[in-house]
Amino acid sequence: MAATGELRGKVAIVTGGSRGIGRAMSLAFAAAGAQVVVASRTEHEPPPDSPFQKYGSGTINDTARRIAESGGEALPVVCDVTKPEDLRRLADRTVKHFGRIDIVVSNAGVDCESPVMDLEEDLLDRCLAVNIRGPILLCKYVLPAMVEQKGGGSIFCITSGASLGYREGRVGYSMSKAALERAYLSLAEEVREHDIAVNVLSPGRVDTWMNRHGDWPGTGHIPMEQPESINCAAVWLAAQKAATFTGQRVERADFGVTWGPGIPVPAP
Ligand SMILES: NC(=O)c1ccc[n+]([C@@H]2O[C@H](COP(=O)([O-])OP(=O)(O)OC[C@H]3O[C@@H](n4cnc5c(N)ncnc54)[C@H](OP(=O)(O)O)[C@@H]3O)[C@@H](O)[C@H]2O)c1
Repeated sequence: MAATGELRGKVAIVTGGSRGIGRAMSLAFAAAGAQVVVASRTEHEPPPDSPFQKYGSGTINDTARRIAESGGEALPVVCDVTKPEDLRRLADRTVKHFGRIDIVVSNAGVDCESPVMDLEEDLLDRCLAVNIRGPILLCKYVLPAMVEQKGGGSIFCITSGASLGYREGRVGYSMSKAALERAYLSLAEEVREHDIAVNVLSPGRVDTWMNRHGDWPGTGHIPMEQPESINCAAVWLAAQKAATFTGQRVERADFGVTWGPGIPVPAP
């Protein structure tokens, strides 16, 4: 891993760091010099005959090991974002281990695949708990340390194009991402005075467990990207503060075109 140094001296938390987009960002942050806390539920590999093994495989320990093998520093922390006590412990352990929190990425997310007429209440509740409640409580528990440090910082969440338009069978998922966006964009104003950036990043269509066979109805026209496609945009966002870039919903595909280094920031 060639360290770029862009995030040297910073401490980053990534939820959903065991696989997919979260794993790619964890490795990219470490390559840019950050110390990374890799947080999600999975500590051990699923058995080889698990469904979607190629995409489902991945653990917080494996991501942390990959970072260490590349010369970086990582701390795997078991965290179910639906459990407030896990989120509180995640913030506490980060401060205890690395002494500070500079970057927080709320990436953990789940689908909610069902027409509304057939929607099971448990599925909807889980989607709202992971995609909305968890990301807000995450901020509740990391912000005290970030504010106290007085150095500013960067928080962003991973949203979806589903927040802006119809996706067949995904009313619940679309709702959750739209609510998440509104919450984070409002939070941006709440913490602006502390120089903490809060932004929303949409990754496009990415080849992960969530997309399995790439068969989401109505998304076939969007190019399928590998998780690492997000790295440059994510590292740049992670380096921002409120003074430089906050309160923005941005598309990964537009990085370097409509937003990014040297590009004027639109008014929020
Ligand atoms: N793939 C796409 O095309 C696409 C497009 C737009 C947006 N997104 C968003 O991108 C984010 C990452 O998704 P992905 O595509 O990388 O999917 P993925 O491979 O399924 O990864 C999801 C991650 O979320 C974690 N997670 C799920 N439930 C959790 C919980 N209760 N507590 C803690 N962690 C939990 C999983 O870890 P554990 O199972 O170990 O807990 C896993 O690391 C999601 O927010 C998703 O909505 C994806």
